[in-house]
Amino acid sequence: MQKLEEIRKEYSKADLDVKDVMKDPIEQFEKWFLEATNSGVPEANAMNLSTVNSEGKPTSRIVLLKGIEDRKFIFYTNYQSQKGRELESNSACALTFFWPELERQVRIEGNALRVEEKKSIEYFQSRPRGSQVGAWSSPQSTVIESREILDERKKKVEEKFNGLSVLPKPHQWGGFEIDPTMFEFWQGRPSRLHDRIQFIKVDNVWKVQRLAP
Ligand SMILES: Cc1cc2nc3c(=O)[nH]c(=O)nc-3n(C[C@H](O)[C@H](O)[C@H](O)COP(=O)(O)O)c2cc1C
Repeated sequence: MQKLEEIRKEYSKADLDVKDVMKDPIEQFEKWFLEATNSGVPEANAMNLSTVNSEGKPTSRIVLLKGIEDRKFIFYTNYQSQKGRELESNSACALTFFWPELERQVRIEGNALRVEEKKSIEYFQSRPRGSQVGAWSSPQSTVIESREILDERKKKVEEKFNGLSVLPKPHQWGGFEIDPTMFEFWQGRPSRLHDRIQFIKVDNVWKVQRLAP
């Protein structure tokens, strides 16, 4: 294995200044997201989601951004999963996107609420049938004895919904929408002197500032 301490990369593709960013961080995010997809970043909508439990212990995992609506960032999951339970007891959470092809990172902090049930049903039923069956089959984040248990559960779900091309949404499955209170746009620069432009919401107005790298 390559020595980890010898892995080094200089960043030099672009720069970012307070005067360059859009006034609205959502528009800035959308601009960078488009540039990421246009640059061939694989799964540019994959984001790290961090939640905290009632004792303040953090947990992180990747989820997929499925939309930005009414200025909120939407993803879908199982409400009974660890992340689902944590978000319902403490709505505070953080998102991180890393787009190495552009030497960019975006950090977002905010609060998550369930999306309207109607929206979750619409999205659930727009997914491929296999994903619908998968959501019914998996008690996400619980301990299971073996892979066979999953296959067995999938078989039972297939039997139950045999002949139905679109499945009803499981009640424990749905979306969360994150209402952002902080954005940070990070652009890699030479000699570790990176550009960090932060937006924070003060009295409902976005304030823009530069942070030291
Ligand atoms: C690329 C990628 C995309 C993923 N997207 C989702 C997603 O949108 N929703 C989801 O619940 N889990 C998604 N997962 C799985 C989660 O990372 C995680 O394993 C699962 O949700 C259980 O997390 P929890 O036990 O912390 O709740 C994804 C994983 C990867 C690697």
